[in-house]
Amino acid sequence: MLLVTGGAGYIGSHFVKAYISRFEGQKLAVLDNFSLGHKKALPDYKQLEIIDCDLMNLDALNKVFKTLKVDSVIHFAAFTQVGESQLNPVKYFQNNVTGSINLVNAMADNNVNKIVFSSTCAVYGIPDFYPITENTKINPMNIYGLTKKMVEEVLMAMRDTKGFSSVILRYFNAAGASDDGSIGESHIDESHLIPLVLDSAITQKPLKVFGDDYETPDGTCIRDYIHVNDLAQAHLSALDLVKQNHYLNIFNLGSGCGASILEIIKLASQITKVEIPYTVVDRRPGDPPILIANYDKAKEYLNFKPKYDIQKIIETAWRWQRNKAF
Ligand SMILES: NC(=O)c1ccc[n+]([C@@H]2O[C@H](COP(=O)([O-])OP(=O)(O)OC[C@H]3O[C@@H](n4cnc5c(N)ncnc54)[C@H](O)[C@@H]3O)[C@@H](O)[C@H]2O)c1
Repeated sequence: MLLVTGGAGYIGSHFVKAYISRFEGQKLAVLDNFSLGHKKALPDYKQLEIIDCDLMNLDALNKVFKTLKVDSVIHFAAFTQVGESQLNPVKYFQNNVTGSINLVNAMADNNVNKIVFSSTCAVYGIPDFYPITENTKINPMNIYGLTKKMVEEVLMAMRDTKGFSSVILRYFNAAGASDDGSIGESHIDESHLIPLVLDSAITQKPLKVFGDDYETPDGTCIRDYIHVNDLAQAHLSALDLVKQNHYLNIFNLGSGCGASILEIIKLASQITKVEIPYTVVDRRPGDPPILIANYDKAKEYLNFKPKYDIQKIIETAWRWQRNKAF
């Protein structure tokens, strides 16, 4: 059975939905401590086992592996806020690194050696060139990115010593919501641009734009937004790949296109038909001016071709945000 850690979170729940629609009738298990995830984000599906468990609890994890016939793992569970990671690094090292080591430990003890891991473009820091390929120098600028780099290294060591087969997916900016508006992004202390922009459309509270003096055409940072359903599909392909070979594969997952903060605000204003107020404040330390993915490798090996452009991303996010169920 497939075990999905963090499956009640934003990206995890979209993956679960995609998995069930591809493999209707097959069993799967979601392991989450529900610290940040939502039970309501999970479908009512008879073959879904929901396990309330913390990755910090190695004994409980071992029991899960012994009880369920787990054959592969998709590992989404983590803390994800860059700003918080700078303020509270130990919290991030414990949850993201120790939690992942516990998971890998339980896998190894129970003869499970296939894992797909959620990494991030934050491992690259401020790159020397664009678009970013998987060979771009790894140089994280914040603790969150560093924790992901550390887990990547753990997986490399597990390949070399224990024959682990891993696929590491370095996502760029996940965004958007399910087409039917039933699930979407709902983080406590939201830090992602698109939900914040849409929230400003609703509340009319000015959005903070961090810096408009970057070396970009309009002075604001440019990011690569990738729809959460496109990420979910890439995980299905990654699962096939991880079952086929015993290597460590690393892939960027982005759209290959960039949009600036001001472009997002303008497009969101058109889609919501609401003027979105914003104020420009100081730059945040460690924000690279431009992050755009080269996803050629994912295209070749995962057949990855994003279906949602930035317009569709904001439209689906808006449908969700107006009537959020959780
Ligand atoms: N959202 C993005 O733009 C983005 C970009 C790059 C990488 N990622 C990575 O993708 C993954 C999923 O991100 P998300 O946006 O869905 O985050 P999320 O916070 O919505 O989901 C994370 C889930 O993990 C669970 N969790 C956290 N710590 C746990 C623990 N110790 N034990 C059990 N469950 C635990 C939470 O309750 C939550 O349900 C993360 O690993 C994140 O670093 C996200």
